[in-house]
Amino acid sequence: MVIDKRYFWLTMGLSSIFLLFFSLNAPANSMTYEQKLNACAACHGVNGDKPVVPSYPILAGQYEDYLVNSLQAYKSGRRIHPIMNAQVKLLGLTDSDINRLSRHFSKKKSLKGLAE
Ligand code: HEC
Repeated sequence: MVIDKRYFWLTMGLSSIFLLFFSLNAPANSMTYEQKLNACAACHGVNGDKPVVPSYPILAGQYEDYLVNSLQAYKSGRRIHPIMNAQVKLLGLTDSDINRLSRHFSKKKSLKGLAE
């Protein structure tokens, strides 16, 4: 098959523009770590200790590796929950985000023990 050189370069040009357009438009990649952290706060509370709905889990004071594991499991689909699977995807959580967020919430003071 003979490919006209002009079409080859036209196709290459258009596909690079296309790729550039989509990489610039991906909202997840343009979000800063702080914006992602704020998104978590909407449901889990700023410190991860005041969930908006009582049945939402408290993240504050949870083991860091447990949080990393849970977030990785939502990301890979090993753990299924419509809200959290969507959050991880929409916010485009990277491995580094997951590690930072987990460290952040694990260091917060847990409410565990207050009721005792
Ligand atoms: C729209 C509300 C909402 C937002 C936003 C949200 N979460 Fe969640 N999160 C939930 C709910 C509901 C659950 C319980 C899911 C389940 O039962 O698996 C949960 C569960 C979790 C768990 C598992 C906790 C456990 O005890 O097993 C972690 C970790 C977590 N969220 C972290 C985050 C982080 C980090 C963010 C921000 C990137 C975030 N969440 C944003 C609602 C939310």
